[in-house]
Amino acid sequence: MGASVSVEGLTKSFGSQNIWRDVSLTLPMGEVSVLLGPSGTGKSVFLKTLIGLLHPEQGSVIIDGTDITKCSSRELYEIRKLFGVLFQDGALFGSMSLFDNIAFPLREHTKKKEDDIRDVVMEKIELVGLTGAENKLPGEISGGMRKRAGLARALVLDPQIILCDEPDSGLDPVRTAYLSQLLIDINAQIDATILIVTHNIQVARTVPDNIGMLFRKELVMFGPREVLLTSDEPVVDQFLNGRRIGPIGMSEEKDDAQQKREQEMVDAGHSDGGTAEDVRGIVPQLQATPGLPERKAVARRQARVREILHTLPEPAQRAIEDSFIEEAAAQAKGREATRLTRPAPVWESSDARTEQIPAYRA
Ligand SMILES: Nc1ncnc2c1ncn2[C@@H]1O[C@H](COP(=O)(O)OP(=O)(O)OP(=O)(O)O)[C@@H](O)[C@H]1O
Ligand SMILES: [Mg+2]
Repeated sequence: MGASVSVEGLTKSFGSQNIWRDVSLTLPMGEVSVLLGPSGTGKSVFLKTLIGLLHPEQGSVIIDGTDITKCSSRELYEIRKLFGVLFQDGALFGSMSLFDNIAFPLREHTKKKEDDIRDVVMEKIELVGLTGAENKLPGEISGGMRKRAGLARALVLDPQIILCDEPDSGLDPVRTAYLSQLLIDINAQIDATILIVTHNIQVARTVPDNIGMLFRKELVMFGPREVLLTSDEPVVDQFLNGRRIGPIGMSEEKDDAQQKREQEMVDAGHSDGGTAEDVRGIVPQLQATPGLPERKAVARRQARVREILHTLPEPAQRAIEDSFIEEAAAQAKGREATRLTRPAPVWESSDARTEQIPAYRA
């Protein structure tokens, strides 16, 4: 099962600029969580703090029982092996082929022979739909392909904790749907603890077990997905629906007078740029592809959430109870489908000459 990640009272500043303060959360072991928040709220800084690349002024980051804000650099080196990280910019080495980039953690952290390294690398390359591109340099491929190469590299050590900083940015809607399914399938296969930073509302609504949001230098919420998805907090409503009206401004937070002026314009019929329909509410969570093992996280999460159910807001409680019923039905159906299908790779390349077009093998 994935390692545990627990953050307590974490505060981070750069010089006099405070980024966020007093952030506390536990990523439930083996579950998938999403972190939302407007640009510049420090989501990437948060991920880098979780792996000890950035140092908080206050608080603790406990990974698998070790506080990495206080441990030795030798211990930190060992702890880092538990992680697979996809950085926001991909962070590929520009002068290395995709193959060498993806092989890098294996050569650095294991004593595997080149033959074995090749097997692992080619398997992950196939998983992310990059077969045929392994000899290309990062500069020779599209942004979306670089993202997928970064994801392949994050997976080669079979990590217990996977951090993905905007894995969907630069991907078209179809690839984003494959990526969402891939993340869920990886979770089913290796039961890793996963944290995804995304601005993609569809990903946030369909992938995670838990959702958190950073806003105004604080973690405004973190909990079961239903809590945020049924929340009527203005900032959540604005974010999920992509509205201009609300507490989030272009470069900073707005004051109340500004918000009131804008609301008057909308009341007078001026569009606020948001989606026509309110996208709040629950949609079913993605399930592992038939043929793969069931996600062990589902049963663990149910037991965990039942314990805290009475502490959650009323709409979230109702949504969670509904989801339990749906999950039971879906699992029964999933078992049926598993009997009828064989395992299929998530991405499959159909043409090595052009950018890979992944396709499901039915
Ligand atoms: N190494 C650094 N030194 C100084 N300031 C930094 C550093 N890294 C990040 N910052 C600042 O911290 C703030 C948060 O940055 P961060 O990249 O975490 O935002 P984000 O929430 O990931 O935004 P986006 O959604 O646009 O990726 C920004 O103001 C940024 O300028
Ligand atoms: Mg970022």
